[in-house]
Amino acid sequence: MTVDLLLGLQWGDEGKGKIVDVLTSKYDIIARFQGGPNAGHTLEFDGIKHVLRTIPSGIFHENSINIIGNGVVMDPVVFQKELEGLGKFNIDIKSRLLISRKAHLILPTHRLLDAASEASKGKAKIGSTLKGIGPTYMDKTGRNGIRVGDIELADFEARYRALADKHQAMISFYDVDLQYNLKELEDEFFTAVKALKELTFIDSEEYLNNAMKNGKSILAEGAQGSLLDIDFGTYPFVTSSTTTAAGACTGLGIAPNKVKDVFGIFKAYTTRVGSGPFPTELFDEVGATMAKVGNEFGAVTGRARRCGWLDLVALKYAVQVNGVTQLYMMKGDVLSGFETLKVCTAYEYKGEKIDHLPYNIEPENVTPVYVEKKGWKADLTEMTSFDELPIEFKEYIEFIEKELEVPIKVISVGPDRKQTIIK
Ligand code: IMP
Repeated sequence: MTVDLLLGLQWGDEGKGKIVDVLTSKYDIIARFQGGPNAGHTLEFDGIKHVLRTIPSGIFHENSINIIGNGVVMDPVVFQKELEGLGKFNIDIKSRLLISRKAHLILPTHRLLDAASEASKGKAKIGSTLKGIGPTYMDKTGRNGIRVGDIELADFEARYRALADKHQAMISFYDVDLQYNLKELEDEFFTAVKALKELTFIDSEEYLNNAMKNGKSILAEGAQGSLLDIDFGTYPFVTSSTTTAAGACTGLGIAPNKVKDVFGIFKAYTTRVGSGPFPTELFDEVGATMAKVGNEFGAVTGRARRCGWLDLVALKYAVQVNGVTQLYMMKGDVLSGFETLKVCTAYEYKGEKIDHLPYNIEPENVTPVYVEKKGWKADLTEMTSFDELPIEFKEYIEFIEKELEVPIKVISVGPDRKQTIIK
């Protein structure tokens, strides 16, 4: 069997959690391949809203195995809270959730380093979620990190101490006033590590490749979005992992020729949380309406998300880098009521009109070029079939498909599992 990938094509928060949840019944295994508790994958069903941070979005389905892959960074403390939140669902976590021994651990001092680094940057800060993601991936690539499998080793505490002491020395290099009680943070960390040790650790690349040989179907679940990718995102305003399709290969140990479909998730408009360029950002009533109707507040930090028109230049770039085979459009319902919709199809860049994403997309370098589309009034949230959708919305969909040269297969018209239209 092969693997399908599910990825966000914008700056995150596209609604990946909902779609994984909708798709899960088709797959035996759901595997997260990068990121960590900076993610907040929201699922809504049976009147319950649930936000997952590190745990794959298939956890609510009885028949699916969920894997935290080697490319993920795990914070035992956040993870323990996540497990506590799942307590009321009676899920057999030990058998349904398997954790790669090669996933890296986020230490309390990684979170402190994140805070110190951001504070020292002042106005140039990344707008990080401050979950320790950057410093943990730095230790991974710097070959200093501590992995989940190390918890099983006799010298785990000594390894921890050596790295935490090094971090403390590093924190003192930053000229910032950071208040913390390391003893308290460490007590919390070691309690959480003890709980984590009770769960099932595996060599996930071996597990997944064997599963494929045995005919099992796998969905690889990405976090964040393509424009936050460490290489292809709006650097340095990005996260520290490979959020694009290649990340599924390195983050799970799956060979590229095993990947079949790539599902690209995008919102019918654009949002971004944190700092960094955003060419189609709106600073007016229209943007405020999108934020309000779309409830655009971060699932992890609660921060207000910046909103703007759909940017097809950026989307086309993401489709290309990921090799997207099917598009899933989210939150079309949020656009109901606008007289006209704008869609960015090109940028003015250095006196030229271009339709690819250039090196530098700061506002002083690019001006979006828009085409206008007629809006629709109808409320889409109760609609259940493609035929019911207003003609203007269908035209909006067709226009995007034509520009991106990839079909839109699923249209989401609300947060609930049921508010999903298959085209
Ligand atoms: P970090 O990954 O927490 O260091 O954050 C780096 C940047 O990525 C910041 O602009 C964050 O707001 C953004 N970011 C990280 N994770 C997410 C996510 O899950 N959704 C949306 N933005 C995210």
